[in-house]
Amino acid sequence: MELDYHPEVQDVTIRRPQLKLQEGVSFPAWVADNWETVKNFQAKPDDLLIATYPKSGTTWIQEIVDLINQNGDVKMCKRAAVYERIPFLEFFMSPFPTGIELIEKMASPRVMKTHLPIQLVPKSFWEQDCKIILVARNAKDCLVSYFHFNRMTESMPEPGTWSEFIQKFMEGRVSWGSWYDHVKGWWEAKNKHRILFLFYEDVKENPRREILKVAEFMEKVLEEDAIEKIVHHSSFEVMKGNPMVNYTTIPMTFMDQNISRFMRKGEVGDWKNHFTVSQNEDFDEHYERQMGHSSLKFRNVL
Ligand code: A3P
Repeated sequence: MELDYHPEVQDVTIRRPQLKLQEGVSFPAWVADNWETVKNFQAKPDDLLIATYPKSGTTWIQEIVDLINQNGDVKMCKRAAVYERIPFLEFFMSPFPTGIELIEKMASPRVMKTHLPIQLVPKSFWEQDCKIILVARNAKDCLVSYFHFNRMTESMPEPGTWSEFIQKFMEGRVSWGSWYDHVKGWWEAKNKHRILFLFYEDVKENPRREILKVAEFMEKVLEEDAIEKIVHHSSFEVMKGNPMVNYTTIPMTFMDQNISRFMRKGEVGDWKNHFTVSQNEDFDEHYERQMGHSSLKFRNVL
């Protein structure tokens, strides 16, 4: 794939965006301001969409999906950075090519990612009955990861302090809105469309089992040798050192990995190192009100 943008250019200036409401959901201005283009995106029947709330293991699943598509051929998966191999549908940040520009240059079958809540997914995905892989991660780890990500990237609004960010997250005043609405929306729709619903915690617990689920959903049969390569190359330790997935190809002015690494910890339960006892009690009480009636249950949240 030809790249329009050369990551070695390190001098791009990025200004943190404001949050803007679009159809009742908070987005960075660069999504909200390009809403009509996103809404009118034309999906094709063999497109595969990876959908997540931010910081739920998107990059991880992107790499797994590409490794499956390439039959475990690691060299092929290093042909370009992950955000070029599997573009971000609603990405519009100059001077980078937009997600849709990258998608439109791809040969089918195309794979792309989105963070959109289900009600805002462009309607062509439903008309074309596209397959979708949804990955959800428990709220507390997601929140912690999102806080550090907001600190390190100028593509997100200022996170404020840790305790301010917890409040914003609980109220859905963060990019892509409410985690609670996002995961519940996708969960409720999972049997009405071709959706594979995965949990970050399950992939962490047994990557091989979850990789095989993804491969089956993609209708790919993998030899044992390929499965082993995929398990190995999608592990946190290997991905952390792979510039094609660890976002070190992005200019420092866009993501400052001295503040926090993109591949930060990759663990379940890191929230325990961040929440105070009283923050945790407040969060749990609010969580129960938001999620108590849902059949969607996450592990490792208590
Ligand atoms: P942490 O900040 O908790 O480390 P996304 O790709 O949706 O932005 O999610 C990023 C989160 O997924 C980060 O979480 C990152 O470390 C984690 N992650 C990325 N690759 C991973 C892997 N191979 N195994 C486990 N976690 C991974």
